[in-house]
Amino acid sequence: MSHTTKIVNTIAEMSSITSIRNHEHKVGFVPTMGFLHEGHLSLVKAAKENCQIVIVSIYINPSQFGKDEDLDSYPRNFEKDVRLLTALKVDYIFFPSNEEMYPNGYKTWIEVDELSSILCGKSRPIHFKGVATIVAKLINIVNPNFMYMGAKDFQQIAILKKMIKDLNFQTEIIPCPIVREEDGLAMSSRNVYLSKEERLRALSLSKSILFAKKMFLNMETDPEKIIIKISEIIQQSNGKIDYVEIINPDTLQKETSLTNESRIVLAVKFGKTRLIDNDKIGL
Ligand code: PAF
Repeated sequence: MSHTTKIVNTIAEMSSITSIRNHEHKVGFVPTMGFLHEGHLSLVKAAKENCQIVIVSIYINPSQFGKDEDLDSYPRNFEKDVRLLTALKVDYIFFPSNEEMYPNGYKTWIEVDELSSILCGKSRPIHFKGVATIVAKLINIVNPNFMYMGAKDFQQIAILKKMIKDLNFQTEIIPCPIVREEDGLAMSSRNVYLSKEERLRALSLSKSILFAKKMFLNMETDPEKIIIKISEIIQQSNGKIDYVEIINPDTLQKETSLTNESRIVLAVKFGKTRLIDNDKIGL
């Protein structure tokens, strides 16, 4: 049977389509900024398995980029994205304009206290306010039962889960595992910024995480010792560390005693490119 993927540009049309959400029709939603890779496609596949209607949004949200960040150079390839999503039989691609999402006179913002000002929030102070606001708007427009998001953005998921709970949104986030290149680099649209040599050095992120997991397996229980070792491995590859932490997966606070679920999180710059990665410390 032939299947068409429809591109929707307006909020009015998108909302009218998803008002169909009911017990028989589960709506699965994958919010993205486009330039899709296997990580995004794994979210779409998970949504297709569990939902009758699958919607992917492609919107580079200006409000989550700081003044000196890469809004203008953020990679784009809409035609390829459409091809990939059509091949996966996505039902709708929501592709709104800036005027549609932030019309003249726009004034309302959502902030999730505390969780947004630590880790990535320290060096990207407005980032999570922009993310929370756009995702709240998208939830209201798309009205999904489930929202599929990649675990690479671990802090983003924790913040959005809190927002959904605090604001009583009727949706649930389904976190999906990080998808990695064969050599271990976590997939990210921003990986295209890396030179060949930076990309090679960036492998220290996944390598240091694996080393940390081995230390824990070998009964190392002191988070500080593990953090020092991770930092050493990254510094040997000339990565400029923004942070390396081992945190509680729910509160995002630094762990003083480790459990299997304690999360290693890190952000490191190679040249101009800032990469993040994470994994739980246990198996
Ligand atoms: O993770 C992303 O790509 C973005 O932060 C999101 C969730 C699509 C909001 O713009």
